[in-house]
Amino acid sequence: MEEKEQINRVVERLKSARKIFFITGAGVSAESGVPTFRGKDGWWRNYNPVELASPEGFARDPKTVWEWYNYRRQIIRQAKPNPAHIAIAEFEKYFSDVLVATQNVDGLHQSAGNKNVVEIHGSIWRTRCIKEGICFGKDDIDTEKEVPPRCPRCNSLLRPDVVWFGEMLPQSALAEIDSFLTSSPTVDVTFVVGTSALFAYIQHWALWTQRNGAIIVEINLDPTPLTEYADFVFHKPAGEVLPEFLKNFHSDSKNS
Ligand code: OAD
Repeated sequence: MEEKEQINRVVERLKSARKIFFITGAGVSAESGVPTFRGKDGWWRNYNPVELASPEGFARDPKTVWEWYNYRRQIIRQAKPNPAHIAIAEFEKYFSDVLVATQNVDGLHQSAGNKNVVEIHGSIWRTRCIKEGICFGKDDIDTEKEVPPRCPRCNSLLRPDVVWFGEMLPQSALAEIDSFLTSSPTVDVTFVVGTSALFAYIQHWALWTQRNGAIIVEINLDPTPLTEYADFVFHKPAGEVLPEFLKNFHSDSKNS
């Protein structure tokens, strides 16, 4: 099917839709200059995920882990939401029920204006005491002053409040997504954007909505494990495709 035709069909579905689910990954922030993890310029090409993004790696060498997170914070601090983030935020204006489940820890969906964001892998801006589990906000701790930073209450190490390999997703995030997926009405359109979709929970959420009547729209430069199940697939940058849906959605509403 030609791209234009695919866009028309998705827009057709959007016109009667009430509930929209976005599952997003690093590819959504790529056009803001934030590196992805896999792929040609991804972090995992040159860095070892076990050393930088696991509890074992942190226990072995917290300084190196923090240097990497501080470096990523610097990149993200300079990044601005791109047309993909802005389009996703705009969906909240036109649909009453929108949830963004993001693997991104950069906060750019919120900067773009999205209110209903579940950060399933945490936030790079928060820190957490490894002893007491207390979290600190963005401006509470200067993570570059002392590396690794320490808890102001008990002097234990602070870690980034993100999910590392081998760790559970936050229970509160899972509960929020479950409640969105199982409450009425059912999801009409699930957009899976800029994620390699390698984690089972990503595949599971998308396919669950499809079994319950949603269409899956995948937007990714490359194929993923979900591609063969998706109803519509766009192998293009998210910042080019997502605004197209809204543009066509608007012009159709004006004409009708
Ligand atoms: P990945 O780096 O695994 O995948 C990024 C995906 O985005 C790839 O499939 C790319 O093809 C696609 N992509 C890149 N640029 C794009 C663009 N402009 N438009 C659309 N798609 C684009 O990132 P995630 O799937 O988010 O976890 O990775 C999931 C998790 O694995 C991350 O949260 C991180 C990582 O290891 C941890 O650090 C624990």
